[in-house]
Amino acid sequence: MTNTSLWTVIEETPELGNRQAHQETIFTIGNGYLGTRGTYEERYLNEMRTTMIHGVFDDVPVVFTELANSPDWTEMEVLVDGGFFRLNQGKLLAYERSLDLRTGLHRRFVRWRSPRDHTLELTFERFASLADPHLVCLRLKVVSVDYQGPVEVRAGVDGNPDNAGVVHWEWVEQEILSESAWLHLQTRATRLDLAVAVRLAVPEGCHVQGWDVHNHPTLVAEAQLEPGKELVFEKVASYFTGRESSQTVVDAKAALSRLLSPAWETLWQPHEQAWKKEWDACDIVIEGDDEAQLAIRFNIFQLLIAGSRQDDTVSIPAKTLSGYGYRGHSFWDTESYMLPFFTYTRPAMARNLLSYRWHTLPGARRKAASGGYQGAQFAWESAATGDEVTPTWLTHPKDRNALVRIWTGDIEIHISSDVAYATWQYWQATGDDAFLIERGAEVILETARFWASRAEWKADKGHYELNDVIGPDENHEHVDDSAYTNYLVRWHLRTALALVTWLRQHAPEAAQSLFTRLTIDDETLEKWREVSERIVIPYDPNTRLVEQFRGYFQRKDIRIPDYEPRTNSIQYILGIEGANQVQALKQPDVLMLMYLLPEAFDPAVVRANYDYYTPRTDLAFGSSLGPSIQAIMGCRVGQVGEAYENFMRAARADLVDVRGNVRDGIHGASAGGLWQAVVFGFGGLAFGPQGPSTSPSLPPQWQRLAFKVQYHGRTFSFDLRHPTEAV
Ligand code: BGC
Repeated sequence: MTNTSLWTVIEETPELGNRQAHQETIFTIGNGYLGTRGTYEERYLNEMRTTMIHGVFDDVPVVFTELANSPDWTEMEVLVDGGFFRLNQGKLLAYERSLDLRTGLHRRFVRWRSPRDHTLELTFERFASLADPHLVCLRLKVVSVDYQGPVEVRAGVDGNPDNAGVVHWEWVEQEILSESAWLHLQTRATRLDLAVAVRLAVPEGCHVQGWDVHNHPTLVAEAQLEPGKELVFEKVASYFTGRESSQTVVDAKAALSRLLSPAWETLWQPHEQAWKKEWDACDIVIEGDDEAQLAIRFNIFQLLIAGSRQDDTVSIPAKTLSGYGYRGHSFWDTESYMLPFFTYTRPAMARNLLSYRWHTLPGARRKAASGGYQGAQFAWESAATGDEVTPTWLTHPKDRNALVRIWTGDIEIHISSDVAYATWQYWQATGDDAFLIERGAEVILETARFWASRAEWKADKGHYELNDVIGPDENHEHVDDSAYTNYLVRWHLRTALALVTWLRQHAPEAAQSLFTRLTIDDETLEKWREVSERIVIPYDPNTRLVEQFRGYFQRKDIRIPDYEPRTNSIQYILGIEGANQVQALKQPDVLMLMYLLPEAFDPAVVRANYDYYTPRTDLAFGSSLGPSIQAIMGCRVGQVGEAYENFMRAARADLVDVRGNVRDGIHGASAGGLWQAVVFGFGGLAFGPQGPSTSPSLPPQWQRLAFKVQYHGRTFSFDLRHPTEAV
């Protein structure tokens, strides 16, 4: 029997205060097409009622473009016993909200005494169909204990959703039909169509009335309730955008008219089946540690509802489809943190995500050209087109009247290799030659061309440098020869050369036309070889240390433990300039490199660098990308206790809101990193000529760790336990 507590996130009291926005993020549901935050059906002050649809970007000042909050489908106001049902009026006799991770069912049960002293039970349930991602469904059951009289339900679609005050939509048209309604909108700048159709199913004998409120069509129904009786109302909605439909209204209406009324049962079955398939492929079982068990499932759930199954032109935003942080932009978070999960469990979704980079090569080419470089340079923050959308200035974290210059869009350039790495890893894991030939190769080769033109030849020193960059550790800006960047560039150019050889052998015609189109000739290859051989590769054989960037060891040394106890990041405490001048890291940088390129560093080198960089890394309050990678490296050097501590930091990032910013959305990279920490860290998964194998180092309390991975089209199941002690 399944232990539901290991699959269910529970809220025991309503959150209408400080934790409201956090809980809205946690109770997000979605299906890879859209995501809906966990606001309640009835409205409350300060709520962030949000539905985000992949790829629906609109222009906005300063940050260029953002995912537009789309009309909300969850609104359902209940009028009963002479007033509106409200959690903060009358008396709450019992309350529980749950999110069932097995099926994405969001459920709220309330036993409520009305201000007029009557008792009712209300159960709200909703899901976003995984079987048909255009459909979402919401059901309300009202049971009376001692109330006799009417219950009215008002279920609208509000065409005025805003992104914290910014409205992206213009009204086009709307219509009320007998039991349904639809609304047609368009984004203000990008002129993207969106249609939402909605239908209300009501108890027998009662009628639906349509209120043709401008930009807020509303379906209303009233039914009579008596003690011991139950009323059920169901709202089903369908969304279509101009991205996938040339007749959004027709499609949205048709999607509903095909359904039985009520539709819940017929929608639920295929939805549940679709979820079962997902979990069959990627559940992780951890026995002996309930908190870790629930957390890993919660984080896998977040990845599964964020990645698209149908659309290969969208990536996953850093905060998934669950909040406004980073405005729906995508970073290396997708490739370096989330992709391995998809590559090894849901490869078709990984292919979609990687295809997004292929589709956005034109934007990446524009970025390279704007800096005077060749090939393609991926944007640090990317949205619909692949053009750079990192804001240049943002409000200062400590002084709302001051601005901070954001340099990442200009000089955090390692992302081009991160994308190439993920592409190569996908190919190695799947053997998907068709993808490599048709799309992946172009990504790897075009970005290699960028590097060859970006590397700076220093005739006096006889080597290539990459100056004025930012590595993964963003506490240090404008650094020269970042170890992470340079090692990855060397790997990238070598891989590009190997790829050229492979293509010539396995797909000579495709190779020829690609090389002609990209102007790759012998001279190009010679340059790649030369840069890969002569790029600065920091390493000191005496200390075995890799210096994070030139001059890092000359910065003032500090130890993070000396700043404890604290509740803020080191960068916040020391200020942006202050943190830049000391050796404190926002997140693993050299250790991230050693994680990605294990064959380049022997165990003694890894150990020396682990020991050096760990006490200088802000794992508690620095980037949420840090703890998972640190956990993996802890496992590699045999520090399982430290690894577990960091693993739990990542496990709690969202559920416990360690950084106080979960209101802005789920930390997608941390979710992906958590999966990697379990599988590659504690599981010790590695791939050799015989395929996947494990060398586990389980935390002592984990009695069992079980997971599955896909490798070259085959499923490999691992069921790991501690070795039995010899007697
Ligand atoms: C991290 C980056 C990350 C970005 C988006 C920053 O705070 O330092 O590594 O890509 O957040 O999550």
